[in-house]
Amino acid sequence: MSLKIKNICCIGAGYVGGPSMAVFADKLPNIKINVLDLNKERIAAWNNEDLEKLPIYEPGLSKLVEKNRNKNLFFSSDLEKNISEADMIFISVNTPTKTSGLGAGQASDLRWVESCTRAVAKYAKNHTIVIEKSTIPVKTAELIKNLLDSYIKKEQKYAKVHKSFSILSNPEFLAEGNAINDLEFPDRILIGGEDIESVDSLKILYEHWVPTEKIICTNLWSSELSKLAANAFLAQRISSINSISAICESTGASIDEVSLAIGADTRIGNKFISSSPGFGGSCFKKDILNLIYLCDFNSLFEVSKYWQNVLTINEWQKKRVSKLIVEKLFGTLYEKKIGVLGFAFKANTNDTRESPAIDIVADLIVEKAQVAIYDPKVQKESINMELNNNLQNFKNSKNDYLQDSKLGEWACYEEIDDVFKNADAIVILTEWDEFKTIDWNNASNLMRYPAWVFDTRSIINEKEVKESGLNLWVLGKSL
Ligand code: UDX
Ligand code: ADP
Repeated sequence: MSLKIKNICCIGAGYVGGPSMAVFADKLPNIKINVLDLNKERIAAWNNEDLEKLPIYEPGLSKLVEKNRNKNLFFSSDLEKNISEADMIFISVNTPTKTSGLGAGQASDLRWVESCTRAVAKYAKNHTIVIEKSTIPVKTAELIKNLLDSYIKKEQKYAKVHKSFSILSNPEFLAEGNAINDLEFPDRILIGGEDIESVDSLKILYEHWVPTEKIICTNLWSSELSKLAANAFLAQRISSINSISAICESTGASIDEVSLAIGADTRIGNKFISSSPGFGGSCFKKDILNLIYLCDFNSLFEVSKYWQNVLTINEWQKKRVSKLIVEKLFGTLYEKKIGVLGFAFKANTNDTRESPAIDIVADLIVEKAQVAIYDPKVQKESINMELNNNLQNFKNSKNDYLQDSKLGEWACYEEIDDVFKNADAIVILTEWDEFKTIDWNNASNLMRYPAWVFDTRSIINEKEVKESGLNLWVLGKSL
């Protein structure tokens, strides 16, 4: 048995909600999909005629929006109307790490989940399936259920209530930059829930484009924990390969060759073992912190320490890169221009959340460098916001003596050649395709000598860089 779903809404028009619902709308043309957000500017950007101005850059997304927008895909700030008409509601709001109070620095801040659940409780009519899609701590479904039940209880005091809810967990596994492909051809779909009718209703929707054998149904808590565990495992692979990258640099081994050799073992597999300046993105750190919080709460201190080390290596890798740049440039960056290529946390996205570029560039600014930044998709407002926040933490944490000392500066450029002009070093931090084909001869002519190239993604043509007269350092190699 399943319910007939005619109207879906998704609360949260961000990196998860927007692309997920664009694919839902495309695959389910007979269902009306409303993507809701309190942020009116974001909704206006989703409704912008100019598809270049969508709030999120994701390959293939603008085509889907163009095809389905205002047919069965709508973006709106009207929560009341759209929630009241929905048979199924996805919760896809932000769940960052708490910055103050109980669990600060580890637990997720659930204020946005709570506020949108309250909106659902207030405006929903009849029976509504409420689905957690954002990454959330284990047991969040309980919080959602409690809130929804308490609203019904209160309303029942005054009149007969004709509303009911069932709660499912359906975590999203898309990776930014590849979101549309991940959504159209997922490795698996995970649905957690106790109410079989609701589970089936969601499963039937996915079966329009996902083979049944790829749809895994579990209890609520397994589903919630699997999302955290999957991200923790992926992050752990990156910390593992990054730890090996440091050993390569001191032994003469090459990280590319080691990755190739270990990845050929089918038990290990060749995906997710590229060394990098550290993992970023909104999920990995947050989810591991969640796991750590859960472990500590349950007195599983050894397990908690194990996962903490994945984060420790990630922080260390970022520091290692900035320290090495300073060392190679004679121990000081004072009045030196450092060109930074890439600020997004990975290629093919304009997202900067937790990007390793933030900490690395901030370290260079603390060393008084003049940093020139170029990223093909990230807006300068995002870069300014991330660096201002980061350096504010630095200023707050330092003693008076250091507070007085002047920091370096940064500027964002739209032309890559402006970054090369008079630069003492170029640091590649994101693996954008266009950085793979840079004309290093031209760059070398524009730079100030002795000039360095630091490639933290191992993407450039080493021979060409060296032949152009530039000094080269590649992460995970001893050149
Ligand atoms: C991740 C998960 O992959 C996805 O399943 C989940 O839904 C959300 O979190 P995302 O953060 O968007 O997705 O991107 P991902 O491709 O996983 O990359 C995360 C970070 O790891 C990036 O900074 C990337 O550069 C880094 N990374 C990835 C590496 O350093 N090496 C690799 O081999 C792969
Ligand atoms: P994610 O990467 O998980 O999609 P984002 O931060 O990109 O996270 O998007 C989350 C969106 O959820 C934001 O646009 C935010 O404005 C929206 N949001 C947060 N709380 C609410 C709420 N109570 N009602 C509607 N939208 C909300």
